[in-house]
Amino acid sequence: MKAPLSSLSPVNQMVRKARISTPFIFTVLAFIIFVAILYGQDFACTFSSFDNHQQPQTLDNSPRNPKLHSNFVERKDKKKGRREKKLPFAVGSTAESCDIFDGEWVRDMERKPMYEEWECPYIQPQLTCQEHGRPDKDYQHWRWQPRGCDLPSFNATLMLEALRGKRMLFVGDSLNRGQYVSMICLLHRLVPEQGKVMESSYSSLTVFRLKDYNATVEFYWAPFLLESNSDDAVVHRIADRVVRKGSIATHGKHWKGADIVVFNTYLWWMTGLQFKILKGSFKDEVQEIEELSTEDAYRMGMKSMLKWVERNMDPKKTRVFFTSMSPTHAKSIDWGGEEGGNCYNETTLIEDPEYWGSDSRKSIMKVIGEEFSRSKAPVTFLNITQLSSYRKDAHTEIYKKQWGPLTPEQQADPKSYADCVHWCLPGLQDTWNELLFAKLFYP
Ligand SMILES: *[C@@H]1O[C@H](CO)[C@@H](O)[C@H](O)[C@H]1NC(C)=O
Ligand SMILES: *[C@@H]1O[C@H](CO)[C@@H](O)[C@H](O)[C@H]1NC(C)=O
Ligand SMILES: *[C@@H]1O[C@H](CO)[C@@H](O)[C@H](O)[C@H]1NC(C)=O
Ligand SMILES: *[C@@H]1O[C@H](CO)[C@@H](O)[C@H](O)[C@H]1NC(C)=O
Repeated sequence: MKAPLSSLSPVNQMVRKARISTPFIFTVLAFIIFVAILYGQDFACTFSSFDNHQQPQTLDNSPRNPKLHSNFVERKDKKKGRREKKLPFAVGSTAESCDIFDGEWVRDMERKPMYEEWECPYIQPQLTCQEHGRPDKDYQHWRWQPRGCDLPSFNATLMLEALRGKRMLFVGDSLNRGQYVSMICLLHRLVPEQGKVMESSYSSLTVFRLKDYNATVEFYWAPFLLESNSDDAVVHRIADRVVRKGSIATHGKHWKGADIVVFNTYLWWMTGLQFKILKGSFKDEVQEIEELSTEDAYRMGMKSMLKWVERNMDPKKTRVFFTSMSPTHAKSIDWGGEEGGNCYNETTLIEDPEYWGSDSRKSIMKVIGEEFSRSKAPVTFLNITQLSSYRKDAHTEIYKKQWGPLTPEQQADPKSYADCVHWCLPGLQDTWNELLFAKLFYP
């Protein structure tokens, strides 16, 4: 799977103000509230799958040079019989028949994680499980093995070279922030201390600057992608969530000019109630609110995201990814465990290959599938939901910085406050980035 690096021309990049460093501390807090909400939730819905979506970008009918063939993605669009030209950043390709998201976890004690928790200073204390007393490291020794092929190994040198003069941006909620931090941890070791700086602030944007590469890897807090009343990067513990219809440009104007964008959005929509959509503006004195089902509200979010990508991202120069729902493990009975349990104390994987979990993931996956297949936006779908759903062992549980003093009930029963939403780093989310790496360079 080795191929030379493609020529990478610098692309205009937004110049942004440097910001003063302050840790973004409170953002994970809201998810603890989610866990509580999610406990009481159970949707039974149908699930339909769809092909990983990738639109042909240009026609290419020129005769192929067989020597170059492996460097090009020339995938036939089944419906239109057209050839797809090389995607930006591609240096090779993955066998067309291979769905890298379909496979199994292989125990691999020999394999070291790609970085150690203590050597990556960028991991927020909500994800440093060893530091907070997690007794085992088993969760670090699993390798994802697709059924049809091998994953290319993550090559940080290649990634850094590809980022030269470029801007990579993660947009979404704290789960996407976890993937963002994992990416930084995967890269930072190759960059000397004076060549990198983390610029964060109380604003929505966190910037990791690679000075010698003239590159940034950024995270933008927008848990719904659209404008909402939970957009404050620090204070967003709002029980009664409201999202403003048609408002993606509010945040989207800060994403323009990015070369690689990775979106996610899911958990914040899961209130278990009718979802509130604002029609006018948050400044209106009398707010016009429409209540939608979770699925319809989420569908509106998907449509907005896809339309934004179509209008604002140049498929000849940029790549856009969408990470599917990160699963939670809040109820042991879902995987045949004891009543009242959750991910706490779980060190083994769920072995049932059909396991999906009993929440709204199926209906949301269906919405994503429908909206992606209707849209022409060149978004690569990172289907991490199923493979992550086996990983009840990989959550931060109680091994993280807790937000406030624990109640006596919580102290007596660690189960009651275990975080079964977020993931320890290093851990599962490094695999998400290996998959992102595969789709970026070997599409
Ligand atoms: C850094 O990147 C920006 C945007 O890609 C570009 O405009 C600028 O010329 C680059 N600077 C250097 C010193 O390469
Ligand atoms: C996601 O991956 C799983 C496992 O490979 C598969 O069963 C499912 O159909 C995929 N979903 C979509 C929407 O492609
Ligand atoms: C990683 O990528 C760099 C830059 O393309 C390349 O020179 C190197 O051989 C690669 N390393 C491996 C182990 O493939
Ligand atoms: C955790 O699991 C171990 C072994 O499976 C068991 O001995 C222990 O009692 C469990 N602890 C709690 C608090 O459930």
